[in-house]
Amino acid sequence: MTGDGDALFRQAVARLAAAGLPEAAREARLILAHAAGRAGEVVFARDVRLDAAAAARFGDAVDRRASREPLSRIVGQREFWSLPFALGPATLDPRPDTEVLVEGALRRLGRCDRPWRILDLGTGTGCIALALLSELPAATAVGVDRSPQAAALAHDNAVRLGLADRFAVIAGDWTQALSSRFDLIVSNPPYIVRESIPGLDPEVARHDPLLALDGGSDGLVAYRAIVPELAGLLAPDGIVGLEIGCDQAAAVTGLLTAAGFADVDRVTDLAGLDRCLFARTDAGSAAKPVKKSLAPPSCNV
Ligand SMILES: C[S@@+](CC[C@H](N)C(=O)[O-])C[C@H]1O[C@@H](n2cnc3c(N)ncnc32)[C@H](O)[C@@H]1O
Repeated sequence: MTGDGDALFRQAVARLAAAGLPEAAREARLILAHAAGRAGEVVFARDVRLDAAAAARFGDAVDRRASREPLSRIVGQREFWSLPFALGPATLDPRPDTEVLVEGALRRLGRCDRPWRILDLGTGTGCIALALLSELPAATAVGVDRSPQAAALAHDNAVRLGLADRFAVIAGDWTQALSSRFDLIVSNPPYIVRESIPGLDPEVARHDPLLALDGGSDGLVAYRAIVPELAGLLAPDGIVGLEIGCDQAAAVTGLLTAAGFADVDRVTDLAGLDRCLFARTDAGSAAKPVKKSLAPPSCNV
């Protein structure tokens, strides 16, 4: 199959719309740019001619998208914090909502020029840790993931982004291999209630790895494993930031309180839903309140 981009584009839009995709034209245009080797450019279908190989790539990508594979997985990349992250079968497709965790952490650190030590539990593509490192030129970060494939991909992303000299990744179970202290611990752990996973959108239920989604029978299994370990890994005045499901703030706040964090700050996402919790230790490991009105950061947030 070879062809004029316009005709292929129109067929693709009809196909994707019939598959129930509300942004069929936008997605078809992105697939066309990808197939034409012009990913990242705005292409006009009438200006594109695809040779046989490119037309086959386009047809294959449209088929995959029509069967509800996410576009990010088809093109192998997702933008997060305006940085490109490669994806794989073992990694969650990073979500824009998780940028709230990055932004909240940067605001609480306040200074960009300090050699902050950061720990990212369940690093996946490395998106949270690497986004932070991109804003904090003197910081270092350790990412941990139970999936060796995810850990390897996080390392590859660090190399591609030029951040590998400040990022170490460990394939292991949460905090088990760790003994040093960190100024900031962040985590977006799996928090979906197990029995609700099959009912999620096919893009999520069929394509995000179960290890990245499954929070057990009540969604809280990972928090129960992580939260009691945090105080022992935080430096004096250290900060913890956890992404949560929108109905989990009370339960996870309860876990943090039981672990000695006296004041826990909730942050909402752009939809106004609870998205993250932040808490801070002081030298005595009892939590010190996190101020609600924060000074504007000097970072780019
Ligand atoms: C919700 S995903 C978050 C990935 C990435 N941080 C992000 O925000 O896109 C949770 C991650 O935790 C990892 N994970 C699950 N159980 C783990 C465990 N016991 N120890 C370490 N990592 C684990 C998964 O492999 C997955 O990469």
